[in-house]
Amino acid sequence: MTSYITSDKKLSTIVEENYKILRVLKRLGIKPGFGNKSIKDVCISNIVSPELFIILVNMSLFRDFFPDVESLKALPTEQLINYLKKTHSEFILNDIPKVEILIKEIALKSDFQNSHSTIFINFFEEYKSELISHFEYEDSIVFPYISGVIDGKIYPGYSIEKFEENHTNIESKISDLKNILLKYFPSQNPHPALYDLVEDLYILQSEFESHAYLEDNLLVPHVEFLEKSYRTL
Ligand SMILES: [Fe+2]
Ligand SMILES: [Fe+2]
Repeated sequence: MTSYITSDKKLSTIVEENYKILRVLKRLGIKPGFGNKSIKDVCISNIVSPELFIILVNMSLFRDFFPDVESLKALPTEQLINYLKKTHSEFILNDIPKVEILIKEIALKSDFQNSHSTIFINFFEEYKSELISHFEYEDSIVFPYISGVIDGKIYPGYSIEKFEENHTNIESKISDLKNILLKYFPSQNPHPALYDLVEDLYILQSEFESHAYLEDNLLVPHVEFLEKSYRTL
């Protein structure tokens, strides 16, 4: 049986065991220097809900972890939204530009025909625009909608179910990029950073999957509960 992370564990120990937690700390604004304190104590001193922290970490690490109904209902909505927004800005400001720089460098310097380099770069640029529109839609429409539900606002014709129906997959094109790089790029004189780029793409794909997983399996059920409870008040 999987042993999930609990809030009495030492934060430094669980970071040591799972480096992926670093991104959770960054997004929640948890400052380093936590010594030997437990997760609960570190969260409290950083004004972060320990319950939210535990759910985010467990859902990011274990696909069979689901919060119980009471914890799902009691989630601090604004902290969850801020976490997802922080993730978007991390993607837009750090991860995507990092990959973009390498893609351009590799496509333009490899012994690829010029027309092929352009096609490859354009494919990435199109994907980047799709990603940015996806994140901006959530930042400017979905998250304000959720805050509005709590404030008792009514949005005729819109609900989190509508969002979920149209919530598109953001990670599938990363497989195409990896395939092009590994299977079809000229190999006589490979760019020294090509494998680094493929590794960055694997990390980004896993981060995109985790992010969408939280939106579909944590945010959506939480907001369904909010919609029911605030509308019947
Ligand atoms: Fe998102
Ligand atoms: Fe999304």
